[in-house]
Amino acid sequence: MMSTMAGPTVDFWQQRFDSGQTPWDRGATHPQLLAWLQSGQLQAGQHVLVPGCGRGHELVTLARHGIAVTGLDYTPAAVDAARQQLLASGQRGEVELADVLAWQADVALDLVYEQTCLCALHPDHWQRYAEQLFNWLKPGGRLLALFMQARRETAAEGVVEGPPYHCDINAMRALFPAARWDWPAPPYAAIPHAQGWQELAVALTRR
Ligand SMILES: C[S@@+](CC[C@H](N)C(=O)[O-])C[C@H]1O[C@@H](n2cnc3c(N)ncnc32)[C@H](O)[C@@H]1O
Repeated sequence: MMSTMAGPTVDFWQQRFDSGQTPWDRGATHPQLLAWLQSGQLQAGQHVLVPGCGRGHELVTLARHGIAVTGLDYTPAAVDAARQQLLASGQRGEVELADVLAWQADVALDLVYEQTCLCALHPDHWQRYAEQLFNWLKPGGRLLALFMQARRETAAEGVVEGPPYHCDINAMRALFPAARWDWPAPPYAAIPHAQGWQELAVALTRR
């Protein structure tokens, strides 16, 4: 289904999981998620959607904090791993096999946690994904985002490389425009990744 579309396919991701080549995976919960839990941005009783949840480390941690979780991923190996991890931890959570570009929420959501899903999508799909995020959230809902900073030298020549695709701040402002999203003032926390990249942590509010 996705093979005619730009960027990675389900097969690409499935092979990465099958062969254990998942360098994006910290093998643990993202430190910024822990910071957002500590600061009270994420609290017991809330419901959080995690698109492109991968192996689901964050789902387990959120569930441990009394937060209802729904993970989405279109790669069977990721969904299996996330479900298994939840089961092994004794935590409850939904993990759906679904394409984030097509999935529809039954009810409007309060919170979406975006970690390495946007940067996994070719920029051709970014408008669609941003539209999805806007439509999933209720007015006043929050998008807790980690914008991957992975600019390559070849960007100077206009080459689009990824995944991860570089989530340039100017592109993010265009994708999540101020007319639709409230932006906190920069500077934003920059969290380093073992691969040499870093992620900008930005909590957006849907208008
Ligand atoms: C770079 S990995 C990140 C996984 C996880 N968020 C983490 O940080 O460990 C990207 C994930 O997004 C999933 N993904 C990519 N495109 C998707 C799409 N269109 N719909 C649903 N999942 C997608 C992949 O299967 C993969 O699990």
